[in-house]
Amino acid sequence: MDNLNKTPVIIDCDPGIDDAMMLALAFSRPELDIKLVTIEAGNLSTDKTTYNALSFLTYIGQEVEVARGLEQPIFRTLEVAEDIHGEGGLGNVKWADPTLKESDRTAITAMCEILLASEQPVIIVATGPLTNIGALLLAHPEVKPKIKLISWMGGAAVGGNMSTTAEFNSYVDPHATELVFRSGVPIMMSGLDVTHKAYITREEMAKLRTLGTPFAEKAADMMKFYTFTQSQTPFHPPHFEEQIRVHDVCAVAALVAPELFQGDDYYVEIELEGRLTAGSTIVDYANKTGKTPNAKVLHSVDREGFVELFFEACTIMGEKLLEK
Ligand code: RIB
Ligand code: CA
Repeated sequence: MDNLNKTPVIIDCDPGIDDAMMLALAFSRPELDIKLVTIEAGNLSTDKTTYNALSFLTYIGQEVEVARGLEQPIFRTLEVAEDIHGEGGLGNVKWADPTLKESDRTAITAMCEILLASEQPVIIVATGPLTNIGALLLAHPEVKPKIKLISWMGGAAVGGNMSTTAEFNSYVDPHATELVFRSGVPIMMSGLDVTHKAYITREEMAKLRTLGTPFAEKAADMMKFYTFTQSQTPFHPPHFEEQIRVHDVCAVAALVAPELFQGDDYYVEIELEGRLTAGSTIVDYANKTGKTPNAKVLHSVDREGFVELFFEACTIMGEKLLEK
């Protein structure tokens, strides 16, 4: 498949265990032409998320530009999630000493220059707080026509995991989220409404180790850490111990296997200041505002099909690395 038939993609993330598994899926797909990986603070500081991206991408043998983004949310003080992803951010797994070097361009400069130079509109996959993308759209509105879609893991129409109503990525930087949702750029939102349904059971996850590759073994170690820490979170639904959510994988899965997902177009606004609700993505299901929908909000998934896609990616990545 030549690049002309591939879809140009920029990935913005905060690795992060599920971000890493999202990268494994994205880089296992021949139809995606990944131009750039940009990093921001979220799960951890940008020092750690940048190191994790360079380390994981080195391990999976990818030569791609990795550009560091903003260190802090636009207004709020950064709140990280080391309780979930571990002090280092990829569980207790050491992937590789990075040989990939951090770009000398900032995330915003790299995104802007790549978008403006692209012959065709680019899909942005975003799996962390939207700080970088909100700042990009504010500083460089001229890039909007070059963004085909933002596929974002974040938000929740119902419930939350950082508070009773707010999902982590939106909670960390609600102002950036609002800047993106009011930008007019097409958005596909893989919120908790769908990522909580796209779970992998403990028994299914045990299959990772049977794939028999070093990649799968390390991924299994990382997922074992993630399963335990997710089960300890205060805002998790029942049975979380038995159902593992690789949230960020949905943002790529919904692009490469759209038939697995269902969603509808709604107007979404972000609560910026609520004492109990700051960071909530308010989905106007009943069209009370009468405003034009600004996002496709995913709400259902063929769970078995998603699990199959996840293991197919792990198999492909593991076997590709054995050939190196
Ligand atoms: O709420 C889940 C999201 O928060 C995921 O992107 C995970 O990596 C964390 O960033
Ligand atoms: Ca993430």
